[in-house]
Amino acid sequence: MTLITTKKELESVISSFDKKETVGLVPTMGALHMGHASLVTKALSENENVIVSIFVNPTQFNNKEDLQKYPKTLETDINLLQKLSSAIIVFAPTVEEIYADALVTKSYEFDGLDKVMEGEFRDNHFNGVGTIVEALLLLTKPHRAYFGEKDFQQLQIIKKMVQTQQIAVEIVGCPIVREPSGLAMSSRNERLSASLRKEAAFIFETLNVAKRKFGTKSANVVQKWVVNEFQKHPNLELEYFTITNANTLKPILRKQKNIKYRAFIAVYADDVRLIDNIALN
Ligand code: PAJ
Repeated sequence: MTLITTKKELESVISSFDKKETVGLVPTMGALHMGHASLVTKALSENENVIVSIFVNPTQFNNKEDLQKYPKTLETDINLLQKLSSAIIVFAPTVEEIYADALVTKSYEFDGLDKVMEGEFRDNHFNGVGTIVEALLLLTKPHRAYFGEKDFQQLQIIKKMVQTQQIAVEIVGCPIVREPSGLAMSSRNERLSASLRKEAAFIFETLNVAKRKFGTKSANVVQKWVVNEFQKHPNLELEYFTITNANTLKPILRKQKNIKYRAFIAVYADDVRLIDNIALN
């Protein structure tokens, strides 16, 4: 395991790679769990060199408290990665190393992908994600970069960003890893009480029933059913449930053949915000 914290060290490590070998990048904000590990495992299976970045990116947080509360567990993270492979390079820079003395967020044209769902409820979030991911791609120059479908909207936005910024990298999407209850793994799950964590399995259960209903019913009927289900659930507050075209992320108007649809959900369990999504067809 090589732990580096500066761009200079990173440059020297990258220049030592064999030019015939490929580099895989897995960007993370740390507090690693099996969801992150699945991305790293895929990167290890497809590349000779794997860089995992651990950086809690301030420009993508629209809520100061959320940023302050974000768990920082570097030592445990390194232990988890070490078990996957001792050859992993961990890049864990400080905020100053990345942003110098000004937290400047770039503005991107995401073709509307950033205007819905997470973009609607988290102001400027995706410009912050674009800023850090572009910076990490330019610093590490990977052949492939790995992102989870847990953040499906983020994955689509990053694919768009590398296209418009003309960055030569393959963006690899990886399936959602879930707890045995079905709850999508997330660093935020640690903040749930044991009982609420159990109850939060209701989110994926509801997505599965919604998927089944979508086979025979209109999107509108499914939407109303989901809203109603959450109204019956006192400890889980629905922020949004949206069915969209899986590629454009535009909300569905009328079901059409040959279009892939996906359902997206955001729920508050106490003050913990949980997101999930599911392919509908
Ligand atoms: P973070 O939330 O740490 O997630 C890092 C990567 O792990 C993302 O691509 C995310 O989709 C993936 N991931 C998280 N939970 C997962 C799960 N249960 N199953 C599969 N993949 C999962 O996403 C970010 O960090 C940041 O926005 C980042 C891209 C690093 C930019 O700062």
